Parts: sequence; structure tokens; C-alpha cells
Amino acid sequence: MRQAAAARAMSQAEAWRGDETQAAVGETDDRIAFFDFHPTTADVRAEVLDGLGQTQKRLPPKLFYDQLGSRLFDAITELPEYYPTRTEIAILRDHGSEMADRLGRENVLIELGSGSSLKIQTLLAALGPSVYVPVDISRAHLLESAQALARRFPTLRIRAACADYSGPFDLPLESDWKSLAAFFPGSSIGNFDPHDARSFLKRVGRVLGSGGRLLVGVDLRKDPAVLNAAYNDAQGVTAAFNLNLLTRINRELGGDFNLDAFAHRAFFNAAASRIEMHLVSLADQEVRIGDQGFVFRRDETIHTENSYKYGIEDFQALARDAGFASEQVWTDGARLFSVHCLRVDGD
Ligand code: AVJ
Repeated sequence: MRQAAAARAMSQAEAWRGDETQAAVGETDDRIAFFDFHPTTADVRAEVLDGLGQTQKRLPPKLFYDQLGSRLFDAITELPEYYPTRTEIAILRDHGSEMADRLGRENVLIELGSGSSLKIQTLLAALGPSVYVPVDISRAHLLESAQALARRFPTLRIRAACADYSGPFDLPLESDWKSLAAFFPGSSIGNFDPHDARSFLKRVGRVLGSGGRLLVGVDLRKDPAVLNAAYNDAQGVTAAFNLNLLTRINRELGGDFNLDAFAHRAFFNAAASRIEMHLVSLADQEVRIGDQGFVFRRDETIHTENSYKYGIEDFQALARDAGFASEQVWTDGARLFSVHCLRVDGD
């Protein structure tokens, strides 16, 4: 039985170029399948060299999430200034059963950017799917949380995929699965610029099929002082998270970034309605990565993240352009954060 499932998983995994790795999960291992579509070091190197070769140097935010970066992100979510996580969790807790009704108790639940899979627990309890498909770029995080969930939900099957969903992506879905629903929490959609957010939503819509539903968390536009504080916390955790990108490049790609010669900068760009994070060069300097050199002028920055903030109607309009009808939206009392139930418009 186990072998048949593993063989089926393998043949699909090969088709998607991923490898199914047998996780050491003790008593839960016959309910967890793990698919590794993680970008290779060569992919990461190519992206880093390309980004640092641009006039405005940039690095993609998905590179934040190595093992330490994922821990630092978890620490961010508990900071007093960082309202999104606790606000979204409160919305999910207050309206979980209503959300489950909307999602239609589908039997396969996909989660994009599952991280430590904290938020999904409310939904899993309310929705009771038979299969959960968490997708995350952080392998260690994904494995740990899959195991914890399998123990907590004793009949749940988990097909975890370590993958980058910021471009075209594949999922370890089985062809006889009909009723799919997806969850994309955390306002990670804010990392895409609106054009890419539309393409991403269209891809998700194709996976779900006509009538499929997506529950998506979206951070709202608000007082810039609140936004600026959330990305410039007093303890410096966000700064450490941002700077860890350079540590990672040093370690994985043989870079020689001097961590003391760069500083964290984050600010709300009102015209673009986004928080921007940058790493600022504190001096004129040259940095080497392998055999390539990159010149930095003092005050020149590497743009490391955008985090778009939406008005509710703006986001609904964007979703509509991507082929989704907006079914319902939930917010907190202070209107800091929103959770949208979207349905793929059938033709
Ligand atoms: C995970 C992308 C939603 O933009 O708020 C937190 C990441 N960056 N602090 C966000 C993040 C700096 C976060 N997202």
C-alpha cells in the first residue's frame, strides 16, 4: 500500500522534475509525502548575479527564507509592531467556520507559503479536508510543520511541496482530485507587484478550476506611521532578517559581503502603495561573489522586498481582472487586514 502510493508519487514527481524524499517521520510517515522542487544553488546564483547586475540592484524576497531567515520571520510575526500575523489569525479565529462554509468543505486544501502552518490549523479543524497540500520554499519549515500537523490531525494525508511559487509552479496533485480549495495567507501576495499578482492569481485559478475557491490574506493601506513601525521594529529583528540575505549569499555562493558595511532601510512608498525594503551600502565598496565583482557607491541600495498594501475594492478589482469573483471579505475592527474569499469565475 505504502509502496504503491510512493511509486505513484514518484512517477508524478519525476514528471515535474521534483524528487520525493522520504522524510523520517516515525508513526506519521505513511500519511506524509514530500516533494522537493526547491531551486538549486545554480538557480539561486543566477538570480542573485542577475539582480545585482541591474542599475537598481535587487534581490528577490523569496531568498530571505533559509533556515535562519525562516526563524527570523517567525520572530517578526511576534513583534509588537508587526500587526499583520496576529490580526489575520484573529480574523481566521473569529470567522473560521463561516470561511469553511464558503470554501465548501472541499476535500483537498492547498496552502501556498505555508511557513510554520500555524494559520491553517483553524481552517483544517473547520474544513476537515482529507488531503492537505502545503507549499513553501523553506524545506526545514515545511517538514517540521507537516510532521506536527500529521500528529495533530490523525486522519489527514499531507502532500508537501518545497517549491518557489513566485513563477510558474507545479503541485503534487492527483488527477482524480476534483474539489480543490486554496489558502494564501499572510499578505504574501503583497510581494508581487500588481501585474505579477494578477498572473499569479490566474495560475492559481487554473489549478483550482472553474468554481474553485481561494482564501487570501491581504494587508490593507493605513497610516504610514503604523506601516513604517511594522517594518522598522525597535528590537531590530526586521533588520536582521533583511541583512541575513547577505549572510546567506556569503555562505551559499561564496560572497564576501561585509555585514557592517550595509544597513536595513524600510519605508512606505505612498505613490506605489507599498513598503519597500532595501539594504543600503554605507560606503563606496566592491563586493565579490565567486569570480564576479559588484561596485557599490555609498548610499546605493539593494532593493530586497516590496510589500504592497491594498484598499479592499482595489484588491477585489485586481482579483476580478485575474478571473475571480469576490464572494466575501472579512476584516478586523480596526481595518488593518483583510481576508478574501474569491471564486474562479466559470465560463
Ligand atoms: C511575508 C511578505 C507578508 O511583507 O509583511 C515582514 C514579509 N518582510 N517583515 C511582509 C516581511 C519584513 C512579509 N510577508
